[in-house]
Amino acid sequence: MEFKDPASYTDLAQGKIQHIDFHIGVDFSTHMFDIEATYQLQEPVSGSLFLDSFKIDLKEARTNNKELEWEFDPEDEILGQRLQLKGLEGDSTFTLVFRTSPEARALQWLNASQTAGGNYPFLFSQCQSIHARSIFPCQDSPSVRFTYSAEVEVPQELVAAMAAELLEVQEGKHTTFVFKMPQPIPSYLFAIAVGNLAFRELGPRTGIYAEPETIDAAAWEFAENETKIIEAEKLLGPYLWGRYDLLVLPPSFPYGGMENPRLTFLTPTAILGTRGHLSLITHELAHAWTGNLVTNATWQDFWLNEGWTTYAETRITEILEGTDSKDLHLAFNEKELIEVMERVGMNSQQTCLKLPPEKDVDSFATSIPYYKGCFFLRECEYAVGREHFDDFIQKYMASFQFQSLTTEAFLDFLKAELPEVFEKVDVHKWIYEPALPEEWHRPKSHLYDEVQQALYDYEKGIQPTKEQIRNWHRYQVLSFLQGLPRKISVEDCQYFDDVLELEKRNDVAFFSFFYVICISSGYQEILPRIEQFMGKIGRMLYVLPIVRAMIETDWSRDKVRPLFEKVRDRHHQITINAVEGLLKKAGL
Ligand code: BES
Ligand code: ZN
Repeated sequence: MEFKDPASYTDLAQGKIQHIDFHIGVDFSTHMFDIEATYQLQEPVSGSLFLDSFKIDLKEARTNNKELEWEFDPEDEILGQRLQLKGLEGDSTFTLVFRTSPEARALQWLNASQTAGGNYPFLFSQCQSIHARSIFPCQDSPSVRFTYSAEVEVPQELVAAMAAELLEVQEGKHTTFVFKMPQPIPSYLFAIAVGNLAFRELGPRTGIYAEPETIDAAAWEFAENETKIIEAEKLLGPYLWGRYDLLVLPPSFPYGGMENPRLTFLTPTAILGTRGHLSLITHELAHAWTGNLVTNATWQDFWLNEGWTTYAETRITEILEGTDSKDLHLAFNEKELIEVMERVGMNSQQTCLKLPPEKDVDSFATSIPYYKGCFFLRECEYAVGREHFDDFIQKYMASFQFQSLTTEAFLDFLKAELPEVFEKVDVHKWIYEPALPEEWHRPKSHLYDEVQQALYDYEKGIQPTKEQIRNWHRYQVLSFLQGLPRKISVEDCQYFDDVLELEKRNDVAFFSFFYVICISSGYQEILPRIEQFMGKIGRMLYVLPIVRAMIETDWSRDKVRPLFEKVRDRHHQITINAVEGLLKKAGL
């Protein structure tokens, strides 16, 4: 099917990259990669080859027998520069020698003080959505898949990890880690990290990388991962990536998790000492199928990744934690969805599952494709019954494995396989129209209702007690914080801080919700704690609501820019860009 990717300069009609052999030198002193990369295309090029790039310092381009000329177009702030390789006609292999920029958006270089151990520097990548182009010139569209090999040279005392299979480690003046990725991946799933990393086995095909200081706690927290894969396989089909390891990053990681194949990258704030943040791992694991195996062709089809993954996450949660827990998650998700839709505007195109053609795909990613996508797939399931829908899931995964597809290609498949869905569900409305249809199976949860009762009581003047809350599910606490009025008294802020035992639980999700309420409520004494939080935590899901609340509230409006400047250098470029976006929009 014909489609365009508005976030890439690639000409999708040209020969596509099929394989890349990388040699990567990691230089912590200059914050640069020195790379030699040999590319193989599916078919020989006719005309120039266009690649995406971002601040790449290209030194040499050649085929087996000739030097190539090249030209960079002027830089677009978001898309970077189109790189035009000339004189490749008839060739399908070429080599580029280049350096990345210290400002490469996909890379965060941390100094030792920003790590758990405090003695060694750390580097990690985050390529989703369109940042792979800042590591290597490529067709940076999720519709193009390639395999790769990589030799990564790092300082002697450090360890390199990639979302790939580790083949060997060669000791020398530098240490060289040799990897291969035999399954074809889209560029956004290229991933690398270097640091003082320890490794611990969790199960026959599961393990965990973390700094030695956190490895014990991490191994305990995620000990059940093998069981998870087994359940996920029952729903989604065989796990086709070989191993499933986790990599615990420093807290500035801008996401909760990133589903890099074979090696999920994870925020350390998921380690709560309770095994209580498992939905995050369930989500990233589910991406091994919904996203990594079957990928969205463009970021306009993001819901095919995240909506499907959220749906799979709730199905796996139901098996591992029971229906009550699953229903509670769904009820929480519905409330979140409505709040985000209200924020962006109920009529906004951003509330459609098929997103408009935007180039700034990162700032465009909200939780709408996650939750609305999940609710749509639940409607499809209701329409045909679970048994039929489960057969459909397996067939969908098997039919499109290692491929990328558009929403339209998905709908064609759905129509061919499950025509009844189109009789019972207004598919067009769910996919192409804003907000939510009037009639759908809204989630029901008695655990959520219990929280609504406590919120109702609070409005009537009856405070919840510690005893009442002590055994609440984590998502009940979250739902309570989510449901509290934005503006309460300062005394009540202090009361909830104590009664919800926020310090003791040390859960960043709770802090984020709570600080938003404190800001809106004028609890100014909370500011040092917010500053401490913002100086450490990079997960945007929790940082951005705090920034938004500070912008929207009179007393804190002038304080947000100075506060952010103080903590800026602790943050990932992606987080910085997102915060800057909010500040600029507010004229700050
Ligand atoms: N793939 C996403 C993270 C992502 C999304 C990176 C868009 C870049 C652009 C990942 O699977 C994810 O959704 N993470 C969530 C957690 C999840 C449990 C909802 C996050 O990081 O907040
Ligand atoms: Zn996801």
